[in-house]
Amino acid sequence: MFIRLLSTLLCVLAPLFAPPASATDPEALLATWARAANAESPGFSGFSPERGRAFYMKVHTTANGEHACVHCHSADPRQTVEGHTGAIRADCAACHPGSTGMKSDRSRIRRDIKPLAPSANPARFTDSDKVTLWFDVNCFYVVGRACTATEKGDILTWLLSVK
Ligand code: HEC
Ligand code: HEC
Repeated sequence: MFIRLLSTLLCVLAPLFAPPASATDPEALLATWARAANAESPGFSGFSPERGRAFYMKVHTTANGEHACVHCHSADPRQTVEGHTGAIRADCAACHPGSTGMKSDRSRIRRDIKPLAPSANPARFTDSDKVTLWFDVNCFYVVGRACTATEKGDILTWLLSVK
């Protein structure tokens, strides 16, 4: 009983003592993904902005339907996209992970998805937890699997090239 209480307390308190948000930056992410890409494919010879752009623009067909990064993030990644009131037709859960069956009147209020390009939105790619979460959620939605380190590095290299 006491042990259970103690472990519950620890679980509740642990986040308070955890280090602050997982700060990172685009260069550090690229270095991590380059190491992983080398391990994934021994022939890896660097990231390609052209491949990254093509992957981002492509409509991928999977059992989950036809989806593309560019449906929710603008073809010009310096632009903001209207998440709620705009042209995107997606399940709530595609943008609110783990919220299957979510209903709210607030979905009628405009909510923006801000630019992905760091030149237009310096907050992008500065929190590794956020980057990991959204690459996981978005890649499973769009391509039905996790993105490879090469794909992630290609996309970020392209996004960084958009000034
Ligand atoms: C159904 C809509 C949707 C699709 C499709 C989508 N995204 Fe996203 N994405 C979001 C939302 C919502 C967020 C979180 C809100 C935000 O950060 O603006 C997000 C956040 C991100 C982030 C977080 C970056 C950061 O540091 O803040 C990355 C990276 C990302 N998306 C990449 C992609 C890639 C790559 C694809 C294609 C494989 C993709 N997204 C497809 C909706 C989408
Ligand atoms: C294309 C992406 C996208 C889709 C699809 C989407 N949302 Fe959102 N939603 C957002 C973004 C971006 C925000 C603002 C950032 C955040 O709170 O995550 C948001 C915020 C919210 C909030 C938080 C409260 C608020 O006022 O900010 C609620 C509630 C919400 N959405 C409900 C819904 C419901 C219900 C649906 C489905 C009918 C839905 N959303 C579909 C992108 C989306």
